[in-house]
Amino acid sequence: MTSLNGHSTLERRFMTELAQGLDDVRTRTFPFPRRHCISVLDLNRPQAEQLLDLADVFVGLNRQKAKKLDLLKGRTLMNLFFENSTRTQSSFELAGKRLGADVVNMSPRASSMSKGETLIDTAVTLNAMKPDLLVVRHPSSGAAALLAQKVDGSVINAGDGQHEHPTQALLDALSMRRAFGSVEGLTVAICGDVLHSRVARSNVILLQMLGARVRLVGPPTLMPAGADRWAADIHHDMREGIDGVDVVMMLRLQLERMTGALVPSTREYFRFFGLDREKLARAAPGVRVMHPGPMNRGVEIDSDIADDLAVSLIQDQVEMGVAVRMAVLSALAARLDNA
Ligand code: NCD
Repeated sequence: MTSLNGHSTLERRFMTELAQGLDDVRTRTFPFPRRHCISVLDLNRPQAEQLLDLADVFVGLNRQKAKKLDLLKGRTLMNLFFENSTRTQSSFELAGKRLGADVVNMSPRASSMSKGETLIDTAVTLNAMKPDLLVVRHPSSGAAALLAQKVDGSVINAGDGQHEHPTQALLDALSMRRAFGSVEGLTVAICGDVLHSRVARSNVILLQMLGARVRLVGPPTLMPAGADRWAADIHHDMREGIDGVDVVMMLRLQLERMTGALVPSTREYFRFFGLDREKLARAAPGVRVMHPGPMNRGVEIDSDIADDLAVSLIQDQVEMGVAVRMAVLSALAARLDNA
C-alpha cells in the first residue's frame, strides 16, 4: 500500500521507529569516561549500565530495515587485528559502518609488521593517517595500552593476550540482562580454559561489578595462579561447579596458547569438563548457556546444547556484539567531539 507522499505504510513505520530510536540514542549517548577503552575497569557500574542502555537502543535499530546512522560521519575507524577473528572484527566493522564511519581493515600479515616492523612503528605510521578510532587485537597482554600511548585517537581493546576483552564482557552482560531482566543476583559459572581467557578476566570483573556471583570451573592446570584473589568461587569438579547456576559460560580450549600438555586429551577433557545434558541438568531451571565463540564442538560443548535455542544464548551474543560495539564507538566519539 502506498500513501500520498509516496511511502508505503511499512516504510513510514520504519521511519517513525527510526526517528524514535534516534531520539533515544541522542538522549542516551554520553561521552565515554576515558579516551580509550582498554579494560572494563574504564567504566564504573552506572557508566556500564548506561552503556548497556544505549546498546539496547542499537539492538532495536539493528533489527530495522534502515540501520545506518551518521553519528560517526567523517570519522575513520581502523581495525588492526594481529590475531584471527571472525565475530569481533566483523562486528566492529559493521558497528563502524552502521554509524557512518569510514572503516579500514588492516591485516598485519599483509603489512610491514610481517617484515619486522614493531608495534610502535606501526602505531606511529597509522597515527599519521589520523584514525579517530583504532580497534586492536594482539597476542600480547598490554599491547592495547601501549598503542594508546602513541596515538591521538581512541584505542579500543578487542583482546590483548590473556589480559582483557572489554566489549566481549559488555555484550555478554547485555545478553544476560535481556534474557533475565537483570544481571544483579545471577550466579554465573565460567567454565573451562580460564587460564588463557581474556574473556573470563573481563567477565569476572564486570559481572561482579553488576552484582552477579561468579564461579570459575575448570581443571587446576587451566586456572590462573592468583585466581583465588578474584573473589570468585573456584571449582575443579564441573558438576559441583554448575550446581544451581543461572548461566553456564563455556570457554574455548585455547590449544594455540598452550606450550605444554595442559589437558590429557580432548576426549578426556570433554568427559570431565565438556558441557553435556547430563551435567547441565545440575544447573538451575531456566539455565542459559553462553560461549564467546569460536566453539570446539564436542570438546568443551555438546552441539546439541549449543544449537538448542531454548537454552543457548550464543546467537544472541553475536547480535549483542554489534550493538555493544556501536554503543562503545559512539560514546568514544562523543568524548572526542567534546575534547
Ligand atoms: C574470544 C577471544 O578471541 O578472546 N573470542 C571472541 O572474541 N569472540 C575467545 C576465544 O578465542 O576463544
